[in-house]
Amino acid sequence: MNKIKENTGIAIAHAINDLYPGVEITPQDLASYLEYPPDTSMGNLALPCFRLSRPLRTSPDKIAASLGRYLTADKLPACLSSAKPTGGYLNFRVSDNYLTSTVLPDILVRGELCGATDEGAGKTIVLDYSSPNVAKPFHVGHLGSTVIGHSLRKLFEYRGYKCISINHLGDWGTQFGKMIVAYKRWGDCDVIERGGIDELVELYVKFHAEAEVDKSLEDEARQEFHKLETGDEENLKLWRWFIDVSMKEYDITYKQLGITFDSYAGESFYIDKMDAQIEKLREASLLKLDNGASIVDLSEYDMPPCLILKSDGSTLYTTRDIAAAVYRYDTYHFDRCIYVTSSAQCLHFAQLFRIISLMGYNWADRLVHVPYGTVSINGEKLATRTGNVVLLKDLFRIATEKVYDIISEKNPALEGEEKRATAEAVGVGAIVFYYLTSNRIRDINFNMDDALNFEGNTGPYAMYTYARTCSILRKATADGIEPDTSCGGVTTPEERETLFTLSRFGEAVDFAIRDYEPSVVTRYILDLCAAFNRFYHNCPILTAKDEKTVRFRLALTSAVKNTLGAALDLICLKKTEKI
Ligand code: ARG
Repeated sequence: MNKIKENTGIAIAHAINDLYPGVEITPQDLASYLEYPPDTSMGNLALPCFRLSRPLRTSPDKIAASLGRYLTADKLPACLSSAKPTGGYLNFRVSDNYLTSTVLPDILVRGELCGATDEGAGKTIVLDYSSPNVAKPFHVGHLGSTVIGHSLRKLFEYRGYKCISINHLGDWGTQFGKMIVAYKRWGDCDVIERGGIDELVELYVKFHAEAEVDKSLEDEARQEFHKLETGDEENLKLWRWFIDVSMKEYDITYKQLGITFDSYAGESFYIDKMDAQIEKLREASLLKLDNGASIVDLSEYDMPPCLILKSDGSTLYTTRDIAAAVYRYDTYHFDRCIYVTSSAQCLHFAQLFRIISLMGYNWADRLVHVPYGTVSINGEKLATRTGNVVLLKDLFRIATEKVYDIISEKNPALEGEEKRATAEAVGVGAIVFYYLTSNRIRDINFNMDDALNFEGNTGPYAMYTYARTCSILRKATADGIEPDTSCGGVTTPEERETLFTLSRFGEAVDFAIRDYEPSVVTRYILDLCAAFNRFYHNCPILTAKDEKTVRFRLALTSAVKNTLGAALDLICLKKTEKI
């Protein structure tokens, strides 16, 4: 919890205790009611008193007035300087002295760890994310899982948790039967070696187009998959090759995003681990026969039955997920296992978690599904089967090229490898940032121009602001001036707002973790950039009127660099020092 809110909550609780004896509202609840007013000229924090009208049996206006009269300077905590009623709100102003002598030095001492804690020490979190399906393209649909998952990993690590990131590759299932049929009929080894995953996708799309006309292809695919499952050498070799070709491409994308995994145990890893769980399901009398297939009846939980074994005995996605959950618990003893996938899989995970619980695993309540909405590009939905996909690599390439051109104009001095790397970091960052700006569950319609706008609420704008702090500090070092907090202090509204925004960083991380919602950090970044840029435009830094002010403003700039750097890192953006 944010320190300032916490202390404000305590002060309000005291006031209520004295003014309205017998009413019990906890300081924590009061703190959680506090809001950040959009117009900071009124104050930095506001208590909407309508939330208290019922327990206090008084109108919001009267509550605000009486609390305001009571909370004189001597009754306020050190972090606040005043409490003033405006209508039904009680507005608090933070103390400039507190911002100058507590908030600012604290950030400078802690550097990029200014929002970190060790609350997760000793706890392990398994995160299952990205998990593309082999031989299918890495398209924008998987971007959500990849960046939300990785950002959550960074957030939890920032809070001291031990994290295990798993790429649960879709490397098993009937689609491989289809791929094998398609390759045997129409494929060419050299073409695939050269063209990579795109050629595999061509084959996959062709299979579906042909299967529309020739129904026997589906049967043939089932047979080929059966051969693969029963260890046919030729099919196994093809299957491994499809995986290698796909991995090569995924690795390029992960590298661009700066993402690594602790484990690549995909679906095929669980082939020999399913029997034990199927046996356990049977022993617990959970399996029912249904037209030759084995299902778990979940009608009692208002869910459709869950298929565990097909009538030909083959296993399914869910069967492998049961084995995977058990294996992960046995291996990592996780405190939580988080799955990040599109909301299309909500039912799958609800069924999976229920089955794990019915099987008697007492850790079932540690499994968490984190769903996200769909992505369309300029209004068009995506589907692999019809070939209507927008590949992430194409999106990254186009964004990088456009940023490259913008940088050429903005900063002609940037050249060579540094320029290329910066363009890629900003181009990729633009897409990630855009993606992580709205709440994860909302459907997104991606628009490249919006994402790349350096003046909008975008990744490039945030990265550019970060580069601006770096450039100011570089210049100061070159001039031999050091930031210093011991002299000078807050004198302008812009300085106050920037420092107050800095003090909110830890809370943004709290909320992002609580709700599995990296977008809280993204939106915090936008608030911080807005505050800092207002400060930058209205308050000269290196040319301020006296040395005291210069050094104080440099300290402020340095604190923004630390916090912004930490925040960018938490949402998987690279910190570009020059743009
Ligand atoms: N491969 C799946 C897909 O692309 C996502 C896997 C998610 N993880 C899991 N354990 N089911 O839809």
